[in-house]
Formats: sequence, C-alpha cells, structure tokens
Amino acid sequence: MPRKTTKRLDQLPDMPNVFTPREMAARGGLAHCFDAQRPLVLELGCGRGETTVDMAAADPDRNYLGVDIKGARVHRGASAALERGVRNVAFLYSVVEQVALLACGEPIEEIWIRFPDPFPKPSKANRRLTSPRYLELYRRILAPGGRVHFKTDSETLFGYTLEVLDQEKARIHSIDENLADVAGSPAPLAIQSSYECKWRAEGRTIHYVCFSLK
Ligand SMILES: C[S@@+](CC[C@H](N)C(=O)[O-])C[C@H]1O[C@@H](n2cnc3c(N)ncnc32)[C@H](O)[C@@H]1O
Repeated sequence: MPRKTTKRLDQLPDMPNVFTPREMAARGGLAHCFDAQRPLVLELGCGRGETTVDMAAADPDRNYLGVDIKGARVHRGASAALERGVRNVAFLYSVVEQVALLACGEPIEEIWIRFPDPFPKPSKANRRLTSPRYLELYRRILAPGGRVHFKTDSETLFGYTLEVLDQEKARIHSIDENLADVAGSPAPLAIQSSYECKWRAEGRTIHYVCFSLK
C-alpha cells in the first residue's frame, strides 16, 4: 500500500467529519453527525468526496453525507471540507449497505450516485449500485417522493439501470442520454468530480437519469 494511503488511513479516526458505522450508531444515526439538524442528502460511492463537498457548499440549508468504502478517498473529501470550512458535510467510511441500518427513520431527501463502478460481469450485477437490492434499500430510506440522481459514462450500466427502473416501476423525472457540459454552474447536476472531467476530456458521453421509487 502506498505510504500516502497508509498515512491517510491512520489519520481517519481523528477527523471530526468522518464516522465509522459504530461511531454513527453511537450518535443516534446518520442525521446526527452534523452541527445542526437539516434535511439530509446522501452521495453513495462518493470517492474523493469532491462533489459531496461542492454540493454542500452550494446548499448550506441541507446536510450532505458522503459514503465510500475507500478510506483514503474519504480522507481527501473530509480534508477538503475542513480546509474550506464546509460544516454541513460529513462522511461515512463504510459500505453503502450500512446506510439502511443507520438511517433510523430520518427521511432522506435525495440520493446522488455519480460514476459508480459498472461491475460489467453478469456474476457481479448485484454489486451495481442500481441493482434491485440497492433500489430496495433506497426505497426504504428515502422520504416520500425523494429522488435518486444517477450519472454514468457507461452505456451498458445506463441501459441496465433503465431496465431495472422499468421492472421496479420507478417514476422517471428526467433523463438525458448525452448530458451537456455545464461545468461552472452551481446547479448540483453541473458539479463534476475529477472522474467526470477526465471522461469528458476524453470525449465520453455522460448519461443521467433522475427517478423516484414507489
Ligand atoms: C468509480 S468511483 C466514483 C467516485 C465518485 N462518485 C466520482 O464520481 O468521482 C466509485 C466509488 O464507489 C465506491 N463503492 C463501490 N461500491 C461501494 C459500496 N458498496 N459501498 C461503498 N462504496 C462503494 C468505490 O470505493 C469508489 O470510490
């Protein structure tokens, strides 16, 4: 493991805006890791947390929680939030599945999923963050009418997701098979991670769908 990664992992337990599932449970759940109670938005598989921090900075009236299993990436997002003084953002260093146990009945207004791993092998389909088992999790924790925003550069994953949404009778609010580059706009849809910037620079098409679950 690179030394930088080890150092970041060693520092995680001392970061005031990073929580393990156990720490979060001790505080009373997802909604209780912030300096004030506000409506909650999740970003699942947030990676380096860049977009979680940018969304939180642009929307101070809601709390944002980034979730990722890679500690060194979570460290980057959490450090950026501390440096920028963004207080309405925190990170859960864990798998997405833990979110269901920690939601404790607090309604979640929105879920963002940007550029998740496509897991192309059919044998790994249930690890895709838009597979039916994850949609069932989102259905349980979202507030009535709460929306999921999903962005990907993978045409295969996008096609798979639309099929699952059809099977699950999800309500599609917005769909864009070739999302325009509106970087620089404060709108959450325009906020881009370094992955998205890289894929756009390579000329890849970005797909987007926004849906809710009944
Ligand atoms: C390709 S990266 C994209 C990161 C970020 N959303 C972005 O756009 O830059 C996918 C991320 O999802 C995380 N991930 C995948 N499955 C996960 C799971 N079940 N629980 C938590 N994190 C997960 C990975 O660790 C990785 O950081």
